[in-house]
Amino acid sequence: MEEVNSTFTSLEMNPLKSLDEWEDAVIERYPEPGVKAVEKTKEDYRNYDEPARDTVKEFYRLNHTYQTLDFVNQKRADFLKFDKKEMPVWKAFDFLNELVDDSDPDTDLDQFQHLLQTSEAIRADGHPDWMVLTGLMHDMGKVLCLFGEPQWAVVGDTFPVGCAYSDKIVYPEFFQQNPDYNDSKLNSKYGIYEKGCGLKNVHMSWGHDEYVYNMLKDYIPQEGLYMLRYHSFYAWHREGEYDYLLDDQDREMLKWVNLFNPYDLYSKTPIAPNWEELQPYYENLVKSYLPATLKF
Ligand SMILES: [Fe+2]
Ligand SMILES: [Fe+2]
Repeated sequence: MEEVNSTFTSLEMNPLKSLDEWEDAVIERYPEPGVKAVEKTKEDYRNYDEPARDTVKEFYRLNHTYQTLDFVNQKRADFLKFDKKEMPVWKAFDFLNELVDDSDPDTDLDQFQHLLQTSEAIRADGHPDWMVLTGLMHDMGKVLCLFGEPQWAVVGDTFPVGCAYSDKIVYPEFFQQNPDYNDSKLNSKYGIYEKGCGLKNVHMSWGHDEYVYNMLKDYIPQEGLYMLRYHSFYAWHREGEYDYLLDDQDREMLKWVNLFNPYDLYSKTPIAPNWEELQPYYENLVKSYLPATLKF
């Protein structure tokens, strides 16, 4: 881990002022139907010193340049050992909240509030309790930042590595800087994969989705696992790309990934849910699905 990261300058590690800057850019790209995106954008960015767009673009340049198949394999080998930390679930939320956004005086609540707003919006619509839990846990993988990982290896739209990139991925031109782009074993339509092999056999770019999926894969039903693992795979669930890699299970599960996405993107409000009132419900929910401690 240290070896890889020491090759990056601090701006290459963290071009975004906060992880939320990436998510705000996604919402701008995929605005909630019926909500005027333009007004919101002006309002949201008024207090930044420089246009947020430039930092987001730089973030994608780094993401697309450095997320190679080798990089992904290296991160999987390191982080999927889950030998870094072990803590009770509720302590893990405190840990996640150490990721603070001191750049944006206007809007942001802490990470836990985003998780709670997502899960509460799911619960309000009467979805099953495992989906509420999925909402509560879906961004826990962002703790990767607290282990010293660069932002572009934690958040960002995810995409398959080891095969040709879809040109529907945001800023596709930056892939030309990725060494895999010129590797004939990796840059064909199927690359190292076979037609219809299923996403379970496809390596995705490394980030908080794959990490939290692996963390929770023994505890949450399949539908929820797809939500965890592919919630940032916009080229698939929003753009309909990579059909040739999918198997029947992926096609079946896509509707669940699509069901989840609006709760993630559009449940943000500046008002924090009343935690005192909600606590007993959530303590019970967490207890009924998850072990006493989580491994990181
Ligand atoms: Fe996320
Ligand atoms: Fe999220």
